[in-house]
Amino acid sequence: MLQRLDKLISSQGTYTRKEAQQLIKEGAVKVDGVTVRDRGFHIDPDVNSVMLNGREFCVEKFVYLMLNKPKGVVSATNDRSQKTVVDLVPDELKKRNLFPAGRLDMTTTGFVLITDDGDFAHRILSPKNHIEKTYEARLAEPVTDEQLKMVADGIVLEDGTECLPAKLRRLEDGENPLVEIKICEGKYHQIKRMFAAAGNGVIELKRTKMGGLILDENLREGECKKLSAEEVALIDTRSE
Ligand code: URA
Repeated sequence: MLQRLDKLISSQGTYTRKEAQQLIKEGAVKVDGVTVRDRGFHIDPDVNSVMLNGREFCVEKFVYLMLNKPKGVVSATNDRSQKTVVDLVPDELKKRNLFPAGRLDMTTTGFVLITDDGDFAHRILSPKNHIEKTYEARLAEPVTDEQLKMVADGIVLEDGTECLPAKLRRLEDGENPLVEIKICEGKYHQIKRMFAAAGNGVIELKRTKMGGLILDENLREGECKKLSAEEVALIDTRSE
């Protein structure tokens, strides 16, 4: 599809529209090897090659970032008083319209997908598409098989909200056991409320996986990395 050159350059998040226009005016931009000084010049990024300051300018329609969210950061795009997950994105991407695909509570840590692809976000969050989100929950008290069964069968929350069945696995036993839980929904405080309804509590919660993509263990809390097309496709994997 044909697009204006200045708009295309600024859409990648590093330069504002004005800066892109200035670069074009200065002769810093070549299309198919020829310097273009007309900011309104139209190109097709799938067909034409663009060089900026002598380097290939790769056009990415959308970006997908894996963030390892720390505690104390809000899952929002902007907030008047609190640091948001989008504040943790590298500066060169800040001008893109990035947002978190789904929310984690302020105290929850782990995998947050940050993207500017609204259709993709919608698809992976919709329960009907069966994309599992996997969490590790540290519980307040020893957990009984009955409590796990209640959550696994599809529990009714204290306010009457019905949850779909969840998949559960014991990871550690003891006074504060660790369980893995997989859900395809994203209701407000869902996992905390599921365990509360079963008669237990959650004291720590971490999201470890979205669809088939595991949180990179080399990513420290507060860090994010760009995902490859293969990794993005792994997120979009339906559970059975
Ligand atoms: N369930 C919760 O209770 N909190 C989260 O952050 C995510 C799922």
